[in-house]
Amino acid sequence: MEVTSLLAVFFALTFAASNAKEIPDQIHPLRPQSGAAGRKIPGVHCLSWRLAVETDNIRNWDVVPQVCENYVGHYMLGGQYRMDCYAAAAAAYEYAKSLTLGKDGKDVWIFDVDETALSNLPYYARPDNAFGAKEYNETTFQEWEKEGKAPAVPAVLDLYKKLLKLGFKIVFISGKAESLRKITTQNMHNVGYHTWEKLVLKSAEEKAESLKAYQYKSRERTKLVKKGYRILGNLGDQWSDIIGAHVGNRTFKLPNPMFYIA
Ligand SMILES: *[C@@H]1O[C@H](CO)[C@@H](O)[C@H](O)[C@H]1NC(C)=O
Ligand SMILES: *[C@@H]1O[C@H](CO)[C@@H](O)[C@H](O)[C@H]1NC(C)=O
Ligand SMILES: [Mg+2]
Repeated sequence: MEVTSLLAVFFALTFAASNAKEIPDQIHPLRPQSGAAGRKIPGVHCLSWRLAVETDNIRNWDVVPQVCENYVGHYMLGGQYRMDCYAAAAAAYEYAKSLTLGKDGKDVWIFDVDETALSNLPYYARPDNAFGAKEYNETTFQEWEKEGKAPAVPAVLDLYKKLLKLGFKIVFISGKAESLRKITTQNMHNVGYHTWEKLVLKSAEEKAESLKAYQYKSRERTKLVKKGYRILGNLGDQWSDIIGAHVGNRTFKLPNPMFYIA
């Protein structure tokens, strides 16, 4: 059998299996129709594309390749995304447990917010975004943010609770607008994030600076370090969460094949 037809059989089987299964811890019930992993379009294999994206080999990409919309939808809403998040969170916890914290309350774990603490999947699953296969629409995304209805990423909420028990101070650093502080705080409380040292959001002045996300986040982390905090761990869904200055002793990357923020 040809390699391509073998792959076709492989994908047909895996998608059939994943469709039939009940999915525990589902973030959002919508599931797209079963579809191919882009194998019919020469040069695009969606699983390989996703791996290249996650490893930061492909950078500054704009939208998910059209042919991968169904593939990314399956990945995000089927079990794999949540399992991958749990794998990252488990590795983070293993590391966190191995540390001896100081008694001064200065040991910090950094979390990003969107697609890390909170999931905007109910928004990205809409046809007008199509899991990142359509152009990002700032207007409709902001309307969704203002609803304050984002669910937690289950693995991250679980890790957050465990880190609090270990004695970490939690700092959320997000590029979300400062004007969303009240609704974001409410949203986070509603889904189980009840305590933190800081929730860093972006002021209108900071937004006007048009820094890259990694520059803005580096500067915020530098402020923490200057205040005497020790950044021991850092978890985010974008490489820009975990590169730059004072990234922390260890960084952990959650999957996100829906969009790229430099
Ligand atoms: C964003 O969505 C709104 C509402 O559907 C639409 O009117 C607008 O044209 C969209 N903007 C872009 C840049 O696509
Ligand atoms: C974290 O990194 C700093 C700077 O490299 C180092 O001094 C410190 O010992 C590290 N802490 C842990 C717990 O590994
Ligand atoms: Mg994020």
